Amino acid sequence: MSLKLDRSVFGNSVNEGNVLSNEEATQLLNDWVKNDRLKLHMKQVAYLMKSWAAEKEGLNEAGQWRWEMAGLLHDADWDQWPDLHCKKIIEELESKNVDPEIIHAIASHGPNHFGVEPETNMDKMLYAFDELSGLTNAYSLMRPEGYAGMELKGIKKRFKEKGFAANVSREEIVDAMTRAGVDLEEIMQFIIERQGQVS
Ligand SMILES: [Fe+2]
Repeated sequence: MSLKLDRSVFGNSVNEGNVLSNEEATQLLNDWVKNDRLKLHMKQVAYLMKSWAAEKEGLNEAGQWRWEMAGLLHDADWDQWPDLHCKKIIEELESKNVDPEIIHAIASHGPNHFGVEPETNMDKMLYAFDELSGLTNAYSLMRPEGYAGMELKGIKKRFKEKGFAANVSREEIVDAMTRAGVDLEEIMQFIIERQGQVS
């Protein structure tokens, strides 16, 4: 089964600047995603994206929401329509006239799966956060204290253990960091310090 999108243009440039409201995006998330773990993953990635947009990109609230929205909806079609993963949410957002940059970020969050290269900083950071966020969450679940007191050396150790969260591709994580031009340990620390705040 291929999830390749076989497209390079997403959305329509006349829709630049169009976003869903927070309520609309949350409604879509709740309507489509029935798996609570997946929903939490999407909220975690959304929070990391918003935080990065604010702290590292210096974006205002509207800019932060664009990044957050991409994170919040990037896997919206994953549990109910795995064969249509990415395609279905892209078409939904296109039908709602959403800004093409946000749709492109979702389309390129797994270049090896969807065949779309991350181009913008938003694209690259969504790809960078996605798998590592999942690995960090898996680590929190095996710690009695969850995220409290989590240290960089702990997550580095799990990262090296191939059997831990074996479905998380270490190669993709390294590829994502390289493309984004960010340091793996810096992103690990960034996630450790923020992800526990999401519920
Ligand atoms: Fe994801």
